[in-house]
Amino acid sequence: MPLADTDSPTLRAIDPGRLGCDAFRRRHGIKYAYVAGAMYKGIASKELVVRIGRARLLGFLGTGGLKPERIDRDLQWIGEQLGGTGIYGANFLAAPFDPEIEHATAEILLERRVPRIEAAAFTQISMDLAWLRLRGMTRDADGVVRSPRQIMTKISRPEVAAQFLRPVPDVLRRTLLASGLINAEEAEWGATVPVADDICVESDSGGHTDRGVAYVLLPVILRLRDDLSREHGYARKIGVGAAGGLGTPEAVAASFVVGADFVLTGSVNQCTVEAGTSDRVKDMLQAAEAQDMDIVPAGDMFEMGAKVQVFKRGLLFPGRAKKLYDLYRQYDSIEQIDAKTREQIETRYFKRSFDAVWEETRMFYAQRAPAVIARAERDPKHRMALIFRWYFVHTSRLALAGEPAEQTDFQIHSGPALGAFNQWVRGTAMADWRNRHVDLIADQLMTGAAAVLSQRYRSLIET
Ligand SMILES: Cc1cc2nc3c(=O)[nH]c(=O)nc-3n(C[C@H](O)[C@H](O)[C@H](O)COP(=O)(O)O)c2cc1C
Repeated sequence: MPLADTDSPTLRAIDPGRLGCDAFRRRHGIKYAYVAGAMYKGIASKELVVRIGRARLLGFLGTGGLKPERIDRDLQWIGEQLGGTGIYGANFLAAPFDPEIEHATAEILLERRVPRIEAAAFTQISMDLAWLRLRGMTRDADGVVRSPRQIMTKISRPEVAAQFLRPVPDVLRRTLLASGLINAEEAEWGATVPVADDICVESDSGGHTDRGVAYVLLPVILRLRDDLSREHGYARKIGVGAAGGLGTPEAVAASFVVGADFVLTGSVNQCTVEAGTSDRVKDMLQAAEAQDMDIVPAGDMFEMGAKVQVFKRGLLFPGRAKKLYDLYRQYDSIEQIDAKTREQIETRYFKRSFDAVWEETRMFYAQRAPAVIARAERDPKHRMALIFRWYFVHTSRLALAGEPAEQTDFQIHSGPALGAFNQWVRGTAMADWRNRHVDLIADQLMTGAAAVLSQRYRSLIET
């Protein structure tokens, strides 16, 4: 007998619209507790954000690596398409080594009145993030403090989560007030609300990842949320969500069973019609299996040893990226590298000389941040890092452009969730990415998760 036909209320099929937290859905005006996370350089494109927004689901524009003018243009367009609903947002990435870009992005988000912000890669609350939290706060007649924008953050460590679960630190409120970026009321009211409205716990994911284990992290952060909310006496519940590894109904269902208020996907959305990457990358990704991923150094945080998860099958990029990082650790300058290795990198990896790469790098920083060049000229190890980092920017561009002659050097961020998804949809229309749309994937995963839970629940109480 189909689940929905049963007379017993305990055996009624679970409604996907009831999975997760009701307050989260109402606060964001969305039909499911489901979010599509940002993907850099507009891979989470304006079209993706609008398509999912029209389906009454939340998506974040991938602002990372985009020029401020492009972010501004894309947000204007999204605002025009979805403005009335307010169901959209944009990524706000920590940039501790490039504070100008962080500030410029914050200005655009304020100027364009972006209603929802996905803050990521923060290890501590920055001045600009605090500004986004506090600017424009109001307090209504019954004392409830409101912000014109909601902040969701992605974290993978409890000590970072704790900072977002507390109010903006006093020192930041005082500095913002002294510099005139916020007024006295905003500074005062900011002491009563947490930095984040929602915290997303990111486990083993595509792109930058600490490879956390969801079953460990999610309960820890849920308890931390409860403890700190009690301690601060917050009026509103902070949502705690799950991300990383979500590519099947089973994985989504498991997140809700553990207690997630919402789920957030990434990798599965890169292989859709709306994603802002090349058809060639999508063709490769639709054949990916769960084991086709690798962990390599992250170009943007190269010297710190941060890691990203990428697609590896048939590609030379992952091995080359690791080799560059090994050389960086082994040597103190590019000149120390032996002639044979140098020749291999120049001719095979870079397809140009170190001198040519350095010249390109110098020109780039000369206008934006001359201090970077000055430091590199004093510090040969830093100069080596900049030359190697060029390769990471270059290989991302090759993938986005779908350069056929340079396919083996494509840098494609992806996690195993995509492989699991591909396996699940094999033999259906969705096996072809041309039939994959970001909102349809959301529908499939959420209705699938509801069906999984209904089945499991029934088998538990019937046996
Ligand atoms: C291609 C790609 C690019 C990403 N770029 C960003 C980014 O720029 N900013 C960000 O906050 N997260 C980024 N992410 C992470 C996603 O928003 C999301 O948190 C993550 O992919 C979820 O894990 P999953 O890949 O296992 O679904 C990226 C993920 C992928 C796959």
